[in-house]
Amino acid sequence: MAIELETKPDVKAAETGKKTPGFSTLCIHAGNAPEPATGSVTFPIYQTSTYVQEGLGKHKGFEYARTQNPTRMRLEENMTVLERGAGARAFASGMAAITAISTFLKQGDHVVCSNMTYGGTYRYFTKILAKFGVTFDFVDTADVDAVRRAIRPETRMLHLESPTNPTMRLADIAVLSELGHRVGAIVVVDNTFASPYLQTPLELGADIVMHSTTKFLGGHSDTVGGMAIAKSQEHVDWLGFVQNSSGAILSPMDSWLVLRGIKTLVVRMERHEQNGRAVAEHLARHPKVRIVHYPGLPSHPQHALAKKQMRGFGAMMSFELGSFENAGRFLERLKVCSLGESLGGVETLISHPASMTHGSIPEEERNRLGVTPGLVRISVGIEDVDDLIADLDQALEAI
Ligand SMILES: Cc1ncc(COP(=O)(O)O)c(C=O)c1O
Repeated sequence: MAIELETKPDVKAAETGKKTPGFSTLCIHAGNAPEPATGSVTFPIYQTSTYVQEGLGKHKGFEYARTQNPTRMRLEENMTVLERGAGARAFASGMAAITAISTFLKQGDHVVCSNMTYGGTYRYFTKILAKFGVTFDFVDTADVDAVRRAIRPETRMLHLESPTNPTMRLADIAVLSELGHRVGAIVVVDNTFASPYLQTPLELGADIVMHSTTKFLGGHSDTVGGMAIAKSQEHVDWLGFVQNSSGAILSPMDSWLVLRGIKTLVVRMERHEQNGRAVAEHLARHPKVRIVHYPGLPSHPQHALAKKQMRGFGAMMSFELGSFENAGRFLERLKVCSLGESLGGVETLISHPASMTHGSIPEEERNRLGVTPGLVRISVGIEDVDDLIADLDQALEAI
């Protein structure tokens, strides 16, 4: 039986004038119609490399699994709806998604990128893409004038992260998209920290949104993957061509894990948000914490923009403990929270950006950007918040 890959009709309700389904409904049902052969409510993992063909040129639309995999296509359909795009393509990691997006560039093109971009993105841009004649300006994308000054006639891409990792600076996506479009640049937003629950950049004016699905979308620290969603069909087609040609596809198992993770995105994000706010407020009052970077705090310099552009403030934050030694003592004493790279899982993860995620950025540059030796980043999980706060408090006593 042919495999039905149509979005459930009610998901297209907006086009037919019916009431648009809510975000929770879309998370669970978009791309998730039961598998037609058996009625399986959970769409299967199609663990196959190829498909039998009835005759020459006669097949069911599936020829080879790098090109088409039903499980991956279901996830792509789901993410298209959640991010309000024309289409989505899933990749083997967030970095593979960024690599695919970078193929919109060619020799001589110029990119304006957030100076607080994820360390791996910075490394890929400066150590690999730069070899192919693409030039970069890394600027504070929280400063609209700095972006305006950096844009040149040959600027072909704005690569934004909002909020940024780890200092939680925001980029005004609507304003910067307009600036980028004036010179014909593609505006890309890494939406990993926010997830489509908190922010939908395509609706704000961006052209392409990407995710490390490893984080909030997967949600359980058990998969690595990436996603690129584009607003125009032309961009989707190119991303699909690159996905097939360069081959960094998301595996069926990982596609299934992310599709499953997204079904609980809303309930997880609600709890992440609730815990995130409580932890940020607690840390902001703590005498041993010097500064807390969290867009939900009124003290955050872009709190007003966060309220305008996001539907909540999330669970990511960083705070300053004054020195490498203080950070080390604090991190070694944690019991409920775990020291580790990554973020967005149900468990609280704490990291030390200067020595972990941002280790590839030169030290002088790191310090200038506020990624100091005493800075600690938390991805607040969905445990009981009292346990988290008690754990942070007992660890802070070590300082
Ligand atoms: C904001 C952001 N973008 C991209 C990536 C890269 O994603 P991946 O590790 O899935 O390749 C990460 C990874 O931590 C990230 O935090």
